[in-house]
Amino acid sequence: MSVIKVHDKQFQPYIPATELQQRIKEMAEQINKDLEGERPLFIAILNGSFMFAADMFKYLTIEAEISFIKLASYKGTKSTGNVVQAIGLDEDLFGRTVVILEDIVDTGKTLSQFLPQLEHQQPKKLIVASLLTKPDAMVHPIKIDYLGFSVPNKFLLGYGLDYDGLGRNLPAIYQLVE
Ligand code: IMP
Ligand code: MG
Repeated sequence: MSVIKVHDKQFQPYIPATELQQRIKEMAEQINKDLEGERPLFIAILNGSFMFAADMFKYLTIEAEISFIKLASYKGTKSTGNVVQAIGLDEDLFGRTVVILEDIVDTGKTLSQFLPQLEHQQPKKLIVASLLTKPDAMVHPIKIDYLGFSVPNKFLLGYGLDYDGLGRNLPAIYQLVE
């Protein structure tokens, strides 16, 4: 692997594809142990998490369901501030074990707005699995139950993550060259 150019920026190899797969397999094995018999519902947040969700799901051996949603953010009222709305969430979460699949928790803003909406439906458990997180960027603290990698506060690309629409197809993760 070597430095690649996407749009106007250069990115260097950061997490090789084999390492991603190894870690995701470990995460899945832990989930297989922890959630056996719960028939969890996985909710993957598009677009970024599509590769992580697909690979994670292949390593699961327990009975599980998966659903894919998009989050649209719009301006709420003065008191609510910005609001995120889930598009495509048809399942009833009441009493269910729910696992959110995220590509990356960065500032934590997205999940800090979205998780309370899910709690409202009274799931039995609400679990967060994220491939990546940037602790130094976290503004809204989010408890991540299953984490792949903790990374520095630098822009990443590949394996679902994009830079202005491009780079999602890369099987490895790259880091912006500053
Ligand atoms: P948050 O709301 O700040 O936690 O950001 C969450 C979303 O921002 C993620 O789900 C990603 O889609 C996007 N994001 C955050 N950091 C990066 C990055 O380094 N590269 C690409 N997308 C990112
Ligand atoms: Mg995302």
